[in-house]
Amino acid sequence: MEDKRFYGRRKGKPIKTSRQRLIDELLPRVVFPKPIPDTITDVRTIFGIIPTEVWLEIGFGGGEHVAELAKRYPSVGIIGAEPFMNGVASLLAHLNGSHMKQAVHTNLEEGRTDNVRIWPDDVRPLFPHFPSGVFERIFILYPDPWPKARHAERRFINQKNIPALARLISETGAVYVATDVADYAEWAKEQMDLSGLFQQVHPDTTVPPPDWVPTRYERKGIAAGRHPTYLVFRKKNAIFKK
Ligand SMILES: C[S@@+](CC[C@H](N)C(=O)[O-])C[C@H]1O[C@@H](n2cnc3c(N)ncnc32)[C@H](O)[C@@H]1O
Repeated sequence: MEDKRFYGRRKGKPIKTSRQRLIDELLPRVVFPKPIPDTITDVRTIFGIIPTEVWLEIGFGGGEHVAELAKRYPSVGIIGAEPFMNGVASLLAHLNGSHMKQAVHTNLEEGRTDNVRIWPDDVRPLFPHFPSGVFERIFILYPDPWPKARHAERRFINQKNIPALARLISETGAVYVATDVADYAEWAKEQMDLSGLFQQVHPDTTVPPPDWVPTRYERKGIAAGRHPTYLVFRKKNAIFKK
């Protein structure tokens, strides 16, 4: 049987009462449908709008990036996957407009959540349920680097996950990977090359792609003097549209 163990954290500091309320009351309104239908024939139907395209963010951390994308692109459907429940609660607080206020109100901001769906778990079991080519963008931002060689198989960009990403990204779409761990950037490029399925198309990997929204890790890393690498992968031989 395939090894799908998840090695990250599902829980951190105890979740505050106000955040737990968001999980109890708001998450059910924006959660990805469970049980997952065997095959999701039209993924657009899971949103409160009919989105023009659908994007996936894998490992959204505190959710700032998902929340900002959802605001900037109200016609795009965004699925965010994150097994760390403190992070899920943080995304809910962003969507609820209560991130900085410690507010206990639980009124999802009007319209803000129509285009977001949250999968509060490991993304990998979701993959087989989607039809091919559903995502126009997939974001893997500051993935856990697992620096020790003996943990290399835990790195998300690997020969098990890359074929799934290649199946799910559209012919015109792109997989965005950012990291400030130089070895991980090398690893990601090597693994993508090795798969023969993707090509890196972003010319200057030290410069963010246009319209880039920095994540919390990115901001912290830059403040600490680290240097991000931005990689954009398109399917090999894909139609070059955007
Ligand atoms: C280093 S954090 C980066 C968080 C965020 N992207 C940022 O840049 O601020 C990596 C995140 O990926 C999540 N993650 C790791 N494996 C995952 C998986 N299989 N499915 C979904 N999320 C995953 C972890 O829980 C963690 O929150």
